[in-house]
Amino acid sequence: MINLHYRTVFTFILLIQAAVQHTNAQSAYQVETKQPLTPMPATLWGLFFEDINRAADGGVYAEMVENRSFDFPKPMTAWETWPSNRLRDGVFLVINQSAQNAADPKYMEITTGAKDTVGLVNSGFDEGMAFKKELTYNLILRYRQLKAGIHCRAFIFDRRNHIIGHITLPLLAPADHDWHTQQMNIVPQDTAAGGKLLVIFEGAGKLDVDRISLFPTDTWKQRPGGLRADLVQKLYDLHPGFLRFPGGCIVEGNQIVHRYQWKHTIGNLEDRQMVQSIWADDVPDRQTPDYMESFGLGFFEYFQLCEDIGAEPLPIINVGMSCQFDAAEVVPVNELEPYIGDALDLVEFANGDTSTYWGRKRAQLGHPAPFHMKLLGVGNENWGPQYAEHLKLFTDRLKAKYPDVKLVNATGYSRNIPVFTYMDSVLRARKADIIDEHFYDTPKWFMDNSNRYDSYDRNGPKIFVGEYAAQSDRIGSMKNKNNLLTALAEACFMTGIERNAGVVSMASYAPLFAHVTGWQWTPNLIWFDNASSYVTPNYWVQYLFSNNKGTEVVPMTVGGKAIQGQDSTWASAVVDKEKHQLIIKLVNMSSKPSAKSIKLDAAVKSGTIITLSNTHTTIENSIANPGNIKPETAAFKAKGKNVSLTVKPNSLTLIKLDL
Ligand code: AHR
Repeated sequence: MINLHYRTVFTFILLIQAAVQHTNAQSAYQVETKQPLTPMPATLWGLFFEDINRAADGGVYAEMVENRSFDFPKPMTAWETWPSNRLRDGVFLVINQSAQNAADPKYMEITTGAKDTVGLVNSGFDEGMAFKKELTYNLILRYRQLKAGIHCRAFIFDRRNHIIGHITLPLLAPADHDWHTQQMNIVPQDTAAGGKLLVIFEGAGKLDVDRISLFPTDTWKQRPGGLRADLVQKLYDLHPGFLRFPGGCIVEGNQIVHRYQWKHTIGNLEDRQMVQSIWADDVPDRQTPDYMESFGLGFFEYFQLCEDIGAEPLPIINVGMSCQFDAAEVVPVNELEPYIGDALDLVEFANGDTSTYWGRKRAQLGHPAPFHMKLLGVGNENWGPQYAEHLKLFTDRLKAKYPDVKLVNATGYSRNIPVFTYMDSVLRARKADIIDEHFYDTPKWFMDNSNRYDSYDRNGPKIFVGEYAAQSDRIGSMKNKNNLLTALAEACFMTGIERNAGVVSMASYAPLFAHVTGWQWTPNLIWFDNASSYVTPNYWVQYLFSNNKGTEVVPMTVGGKAIQGQDSTWASAVVDKEKHQLIIKLVNMSSKPSAKSIKLDAAVKSGTIITLSNTHTTIENSIANPGNIKPETAAFKAKGKNVSLTVKPNSLTLIKLDL
């Protein structure tokens, strides 16, 4: 009897549960297009750029010669003499004049006899140089002739050492002992990867060579010495609201001497003082001792890039502290003036008119108009009382002179730990403009925390989700993948950000770029080798949110609550007042299709449906298969105030409907 009773009750409970689940699956979502929650900040979805994983040198900065100026700590890095032993013969001699010229300390002195034919071979970054058939490449030589008589030729090779292009390089500059720059074009007869450059010196003479450089001409906007167009195009396509640069930990440096100093990154290339990247040795199993920052991509180019891709510039400056995971050096407060001065001068460089010292510098570099910088990050991923103390000094001075520039302040490397809560309370008490939060966590964490900002103070500081990425394994592991699972988990979290756009004003996935063999960190948004590039499912999620951000966030609920996990679904909605569109985003984390019915307070007409999905959440893209997973667009039929659809398994679905 007791047993029967127990069983009956148990069966009854199961039936109720099934009914509830059934009802959940079928219960209608409500979208109130006429009750906007908040305007959509134009900056919401942006980019985090750091020279990590060869993002700049060996990446988006299109220079093909590694160690072009012999200034690496080991000056023959990426170079060989040809024939191989001529360095020891004294034909080639590395001169180090760091005492006279710290920015450009080394050059190669070449002394040849009448019968000499010698050369320098550069193997390029990582897997070697990639050439495109019949594209013009600019070979640039910076040299001075001490004794005329040397003739130069240049050859480019494929990976099997077949010559695919060559030129004669008459040295036009007089033997006047002054440095000159000469440029020639070289055109490969074949497409090749894993290639090399050889510059040959013949005949009796004496020559100093300070730089040998090779750039493709198909750079972004065809700028000489510019950026890789395939990579910048991928940024442009995101229509990012802002670009944070130059990092990341490189802002701090492993030691204070290696910190990012923007004034060392502008003007003539030979004035840009190279430093070893913090990423050269920071990741024990991904050592890249040849990782140097040449600053060919420097602050002027970053501002120009922002302008090109329509992103608000968000530079981050060092706050007188080196990376707190590394040497954790702290500049004494009474020695901070040059650091604060650099910050003040940066605002003048970006925004000052040409009557100011730094505004004039900007004009001399080719941009008389200001860059209209509105945001400035003070410190990267700093924390603790010493950061709080430095920050106060920087803030007082910056606000006194530039009250309209909004300052971004850090809360360390993670959330809800004492490091974070301390900084968060300090910054809130100080009424900081914008607080930067970082999340590298599991997909589950991102799904479970889409409600994070629901309870944030609407009248407090704005939030910048400055770095985030779902991790399928530990950071830096080969198994840590940019797959559909991590991408969808981020999409769940992003519906929460979108819904809370009244408090979160900016968000950026991190890191942005990675070379397929030269990386230190996983996962990353865009991957490349020296010839090509591909985007990840995570990129497509960013793309879909950023290109469909609308102008107002509107409520989307089920049973009066935000949709964040009920029936394995996360959702948000925006209205685009300019296009008169409603855009609904639905994430289905279940491996089954799911029927949805959506009730609206306004009639809609047919539109489009965009879906990013696959039956396998482990699916990824790659250099060989860049289009394995990408969004599919189709027409979508709707009429009136009710919308029904079945979302695919493991999917992000956008429905765009004309209002
Ligand atoms: O995004 C990679 C690194 O993560 C950044 O350099 C740093 O800010 C964070 O620790």
